[in-house]
Amino acid sequence: GERPPAIGPAGVLSLTNKVVAPDGFARSGIEFGPLIKANWNEKFAITVANLLTDKSMPVNTAIHWHGLFQRGSSWADGPAFVTQCPIIPNESFDYVFDADHPGTFWYHSHLKAQYCDGLRGPIVIYNPNDPYRDMYDVDDESTIITLADWYHLFSLQIRGAARPDSTLINGVGRYKGGPKVDLAVVNVEAGKRYRFRLVSMACDPNWQFSIDGHQMTIIEADGEYTEPLVVDSLQIFAGQRYSFVLKADQPVGNYWIRADPNIGDRGFEGGLNSAIFRYKGAAAQEPTSSASQSQKPLRESDLHATENPAAPGRPVPGGADVSLRLVPSFNTQTLSFEINGKSFIPPSLPTLPVMLQIMSGTKQAQELLPQGSVVGLERNKVVELIIPPLAIGGPHPMHLHGHAFSVVRSAGNASYNFANPVRRDVVSIGAGNDEVTIRFTTDNPGPWLLHCHIDFHLENGFAMVFAEDIPNITGDNAPQQWKELCPKYQRSLNPAQ
Ligand code: C2O
Repeated sequence: GERPPAIGPAGVLSLTNKVVAPDGFARSGIEFGPLIKANWNEKFAITVANLLTDKSMPVNTAIHWHGLFQRGSSWADGPAFVTQCPIIPNESFDYVFDADHPGTFWYHSHLKAQYCDGLRGPIVIYNPNDPYRDMYDVDDESTIITLADWYHLFSLQIRGAARPDSTLINGVGRYKGGPKVDLAVVNVEAGKRYRFRLVSMACDPNWQFSIDGHQMTIIEADGEYTEPLVVDSLQIFAGQRYSFVLKADQPVGNYWIRADPNIGDRGFEGGLNSAIFRYKGAAAQEPTSSASQSQKPLRESDLHATENPAAPGRPVPGGADVSLRLVPSFNTQTLSFEINGKSFIPPSLPTLPVMLQIMSGTKQAQELLPQGSVVGLERNKVVELIIPPLAIGGPHPMHLHGHAFSVVRSAGNASYNFANPVRRDVVSIGAGNDEVTIRFTTDNPGPWLLHCHIDFHLENGFAMVFAEDIPNITGDNAPQQWKELCPKYQRSLNPAQ
């Protein structure tokens, strides 16, 4: 359960296959990655070295830096066949991009469902002038808590409906009927205040998260500061992150950390879905604490952005330059997800080069854009997306690349907040009757995916691309190495030629 040593802002991310047993069940996989860290405004330069060999999993790769805006570097965003061709085995690729806003992020493979085989890890961008610095004493690697679902099957064997075998907290966990592997321990000292950074690296489930006997003061959601909000439990969806301040103010002892998933084996019997919160001076044993009924669960509509908190546009429903209704559905004939009747099928050529071709006028847009699931957006417009829920396979967490967005209407909430809604990059569209409405401004040229962050749903077509500010999308600043990815990939498909 030890995370490899942190790297950043420059470093090498070496990808190798290995037999791993994070929950006591041995299978071939990819080790979870190290923390990648930087200070705000530094530049990341991460060399991804692809040494993958095990063909029971994808051996090609492409890495996405979830929550980073990639201003002027959309070539480095990562999704395979959208901003780049895959990195083939025995090749490496240098991702260079700005640590553009402080907060808690993560990285993961964006090729098939490869991150479910392990290719995922946390990113933290520290703010040397953090406005909440006087609220906590400790904010280091020991305060990062990652949640991941784990599968005994290879990702390539899973389609549509996934059933995780275990929840891993900081890389370890137990499965039902499995061995009593040592659970992760989060160590604290009585009297100190900690800034915990909770990262959902889920392929599928959402979790109800709590720490017995302790309250959590949320100060960040998905890399955006929030007004401090005290909760005693929170639901976290695939791809989301929270920072919360916790004061170690309870009697010295051991307390359960709980992350109850919505799918797979639920509950805490025998240490399932659990880790240990341990005070200095407490015995090295498992907790006997019990969960109390949550009195203050997180409600998303209670979260308020603090910086330029107002949503862009006029403060009325529809008060945007562009208002789009995106209706998700599941096609029972093709067994694929669709948005407005279109299932996203990745182009055989990546979208950015495709768009560069469109810009240079070499081909007709219709020939090049995949299946009508690319929508062009003009620059400097306020865009409003209205997304109704989809019960099948839900609740679905929708993620937009290249932006954070204002959630002017949250799931399960009939009212709107235009004054100070939470701003974030993944929002659950819920499972009830209510629609979710989000807004953002098109100030970042690039081809940005919008997709369900349940990785098996993304694989199954639940995605679309916003081609934002096409005239200003440029590959000029992309390195030569980036341009070589496609020919290398294509040669790997036809090794005879
Ligand atoms: Cu975290 Cu498109 O991904």
